Amino acid sequence: MAGLDIELAGIKMKNPVMVASGTFGYGEEASKFVDLDKLGAIVTKTITLQAREGNPPPRIVETSSGMLNSIGLQNKGVKDFIENRIPFLSKFKTPLIANIAGDSAKDYAELAKILNKEPLIKGLEINISCPNVTKGGMFFCFDPNATEELVRTIRKATSLPLIVKLSPNVTDISLIAKKAEDAGADAVSLINTLMGMAIDIETRKSKLGTPTGGLSGPAIKPIAVRMVWQVAQVVKIPIIGVGGIMTGEDAIEFFLAGASAVQVGTANFVDTQAPIRIVGEIKDYLGENNINNYKELIGNIEM
Ligand SMILES: Cc1cc2nc3c(=O)[nH]c(=O)nc-3n(C[C@H](O)[C@H](O)[C@H](O)COP(=O)(O)O)c2cc1C
Repeated sequence: MAGLDIELAGIKMKNPVMVASGTFGYGEEASKFVDLDKLGAIVTKTITLQAREGNPPPRIVETSSGMLNSIGLQNKGVKDFIENRIPFLSKFKTPLIANIAGDSAKDYAELAKILNKEPLIKGLEINISCPNVTKGGMFFCFDPNATEELVRTIRKATSLPLIVKLSPNVTDISLIAKKAEDAGADAVSLINTLMGMAIDIETRKSKLGTPTGGLSGPAIKPIAVRMVWQVAQVVKIPIIGVGGIMTGEDAIEFFLAGASAVQVGTANFVDTQAPIRIVGEIKDYLGENNINNYKELIGNIEM
């Protein structure tokens, strides 16, 4: 039997396939279709301190090459998450990773402190694609120094493993990844969605309720694989690959580029069984190629 288990950033997983934030809710609805115990880990939708209404509709538009969304971090806040979501998730053995965001470093640190007290949570994924209100609305993810400062602040607030989720909407993602590592991140995940736009030529308005949205799905995979490879050249901490993964073959590409694990996002909207099917397809590939453990693939691209 091919080895698929991994301990990543101190989080023990039975396989390296997680579900990506915002594409699986908090697992409850999805559990009607998917055996949550077969997943490597569950990453929650982004949680903020206070409830957020999110952006005006329409929030999702299908394009000829991927899905464009502008959900806007809608969620009911951390109190609701602890009181109403964690009890359901406690029935499962799969590690739970809480994805968090805030408007300031103080917000993130407070969330990290609150979630540190929840035994079910095995790690935090830090969504840094959020404006820094205390620094004039600049996004944390765009600025290496703001990223470093943010991660250092969160690091002091929690003993939980920190996975910093990077945005592709930057000039040099490897620079941001290195700053996150220097500041104490235990892993990085990449990529979040790519900023995009779709216009209705009859109304001449954005097809979304906001002018721009985030592009995801197979169209972004080559960019995500390239960025994982670039980041793998500069950091020693594990990388989680995300972006357009629909099949086991896609996941294997990410492993070869340097990812230690992957997250499946948009594929969940097309095929509810996608993450579990992908685990099976990785196993088949390992069997067919006489590979005992998938870790042999990590970073093993031939140049
Ligand atoms: C509808 C939707 C909602 C998302 N919400 C979040 C979110 O709340 N937090 C986050 O960090 N990423 C969010 N993402 C980004 C995904 O987690 C993932 O990084 C991105 O979609 C790329 O992977 P994919 O191509 O497999 O979907 C969202 C993506 C989609 C499609």
